[in-house]
Amino acid sequence: MNEAAKQQIDEYKKIVEKKLDEYLPVKYPQEIWESMRYSVLAGGKRLRPVLCLETCKVLSGSYEQAIPAACAIEMLHTQSLIHDDLPCMDNDDYRRGKLTNHKKFGESTAVLAGDALLSFAPQIIIQNTPKTVSEEKILKVLEEFLVSAGAEKLIAGQVVDIDSEGKQIDEKTLNFIHDNKTAALFKLSIRTGAILGNAAESQLNALTDYAQKIGLAFQIMDDILDVTSTLEELGKTPGKDEKEQKVTYISFYGLEESKKQVASLCARACDILKENDILSDVLQGVADSITERVN
Ligand code: IPE
Ligand code: IPE
Ligand code: MG
Ligand code: MG
Ligand code: MG
Repeated sequence: MNEAAKQQIDEYKKIVEKKLDEYLPVKYPQEIWESMRYSVLAGGKRLRPVLCLETCKVLSGSYEQAIPAACAIEMLHTQSLIHDDLPCMDNDDYRRGKLTNHKKFGESTAVLAGDALLSFAPQIIIQNTPKTVSEEKILKVLEEFLVSAGAEKLIAGQVVDIDSEGKQIDEKTLNFIHDNKTAALFKLSIRTGAILGNAAESQLNALTDYAQKIGLAFQIMDDILDVTSTLEELGKTPGKDEKEQKVTYISFYGLEESKKQVASLCARACDILKENDILSDVLQGVADSITERVN
């Protein structure tokens, strides 16, 4: 990734960190707000908001109108992680280099913190998106958000992921899991930026295709890192997929073939941008860097 793209990503991250902190005050009852803040402000990579802001900027020249939505998507993503880590789900002790939410606050608070983030996020979009954005557009963004968060996308992926533990599943089912539990939020991030950046239909379609490719590649890489990385580097416990008998790209294709698939998906994602004249060093750089990511 070039220096300009790195600097741009740093700028987006700084804004997102600041705004997430602002959007999440500590109110009564403190326990729930502290628990929400604990996981949201634990320092994730902020990749989804970065993708949202950059997409908006590359299409319209500005990204301010997408800041509340980008932060809302990060809250939704964090909610999915808090619930994903629960003992009844993947049963994890560490996340983002810290104890998981339920380890720190107890299970009932962790469940409620996830619930609270899920409904707080669209509230942030409604209350904070600048008045210059039409209500019609805000409704579109909210629809994308709610569909992606729900039983047609993210939840569908998580349900089939949990159901498939210890079972033989086919390639179609494996891709269904990855597309819904992970690629759906990449698509949401980019489509939200695109809608707020006044994308033409053809641009929206191309960007959706790009997002699907990098989303799938990102989850395959997550599966690879679960096998090859360490707790220090990942900020979460490795070796969990085998322990929980998850069906992953590694269990299906092996490590080498999975790495090849990541590279090929990312190359395809870059081609889609070029073919559609979407000139963004950041989007290009994100696709290029997925193969090299270490956490
Ligand atoms: C983790 O996502 C969950 C997956 C979809 C693999 P990230 O790797 O983006 O997690 P953070 O936000 O950086 O913690
Ligand atoms: C990520 O799947 C999907 C969601 C959290 C929605 P994983 O279960 O593989 O994610 P990690 O490895 O716990 O981050
Ligand atoms: Mg999981
Ligand atoms: Mg998990
Ligand atoms: Mg994983």
